[in-house]
Parts: sequence; structure tokens; C-alpha cells
Amino acid sequence: MEEILERVLLDEEQIKKRIRELGRDITEDYKNKDLLMIGVLKGAIVFFSDLIRAIDLPLTTDFIAVSSYGSSTKSSGIVRILKDLDEPVDGKDILIVEDIIDTGLTLHYLVDNIITRNPNSVKICCLLDKPERRLTDVDVDYVGFAIPDEFVVGYGLDYNERYRNLPNISVLRLEQGY
Ligand code: XMP
Ligand code: MG
Repeated sequence: MEEILERVLLDEEQIKKRIRELGRDITEDYKNKDLLMIGVLKGAIVFFSDLIRAIDLPLTTDFIAVSSYGSSTKSSGIVRILKDLDEPVDGKDILIVEDIIDTGLTLHYLVDNIITRNPNSVKICCLLDKPERRLTDVDVDYVGFAIPDEFVVGYGLDYNERYRNLPNISVLRLEQGY
């Protein structure tokens, strides 16, 4: 099946600038809180590592890896935890960091799951948001960019595990659509 990098949607400078803004907002909102940033593996790794360095607070980090059953480009809503958090989260102010919210099914599951562990608060920060494709209500508190309904790769996002290392975010055209 043919796949073509069609065009750059967001370049390095745009991403950097937006992350500085998000970092300032989060720094302001989490003063005097016990901020625990949870990165969702693997897609969020690049965004996560840039974002934490834009936040001027004594935060802690943890990671969770989930897989949603379905094709490589579509979420089924059935989520499985592949790697759980290392530490308990009770009393913490949690910020879940995701690469992209699409149908919302993955984050809906994650928020519900983490709430059962008695944190003080749970919020979501997504680099990208495809609002057109939402199937479930999820409140995203910090959004990097709202993007059109196209499949994107780069800056941590993959197609069949490739392209995560692209420094920009590009539209991938898939012959069969997605
Ligand atoms: P849902 O639909 O549960 O999905 O909100 C979120 C997950 O779906 C993947 N996803 C993408 N991955 N380019 C990608 O590389 C995309 O355009 C895209 N859209 C959805 C991604 O794994 C995300 O965590
Ligand atoms: Mg992902």
C-alpha cells in the first residue's frame, strides 16, 4: 500500500512557540499544586519531553502505555494497559499528556481509569485535536493545535511505528484512506 508524506502541517518553529505558551499557562495554573505529568506512550514522548522543559515548577513524571484494539489508523475504543504507572497517584494533581485526541475514546478510558485511583485532580493536555471526529465527550484543558481530519505523523506520531522522529508534523496520504 502506498503512503506519501503530502505536506508539512506544523513546522518546528510553530510547535516550539506553542509549547512555550502551553508551558507558561500550565506553570501559572499549577502553582502550589503537586503536579504529576503522565505521558501516554509512545506517541506523546517528543511532546512530553519538550513540554516539561517549558514548565517552571517542581513537577514529577510517570508514563502509561495503552493500546487500543483496531487498525493502525483507527481507534476501537477498547483500551488495554500495556504498561501501567509506576507509582500511586492519590492526592496528586495529574496532567495527562497525549499526542492527539481523535475519537476521544482512549482519553475517556484513561481519565476514568485514573480517577478511580483517587488523585486530587485530573486534566488533559493534547498537542493535537481533531474535533470533527469526536465520538465521546472529553474535556481537553490544554490543546496545542486543532487540526483538520487528516492522518498526521511526526514529532512522536507514527504510522506503523515509523515517522516518529520527524521534527515537524506532516500529513500522510494513505492510498486506501483511513
Ligand atoms: P482516539 O480516537 O482514541 O485516538 O482519540 C487517539 C489515538 O489514535 C491515534 N491517532 C493518530 N495517530 N496520526 C497518528 O499518528 C493521526 O492522525 C492519528 N489520529 C489518531 C493516536 O495513537 C492517538 O493516541
Ligand atoms: Mg497514540
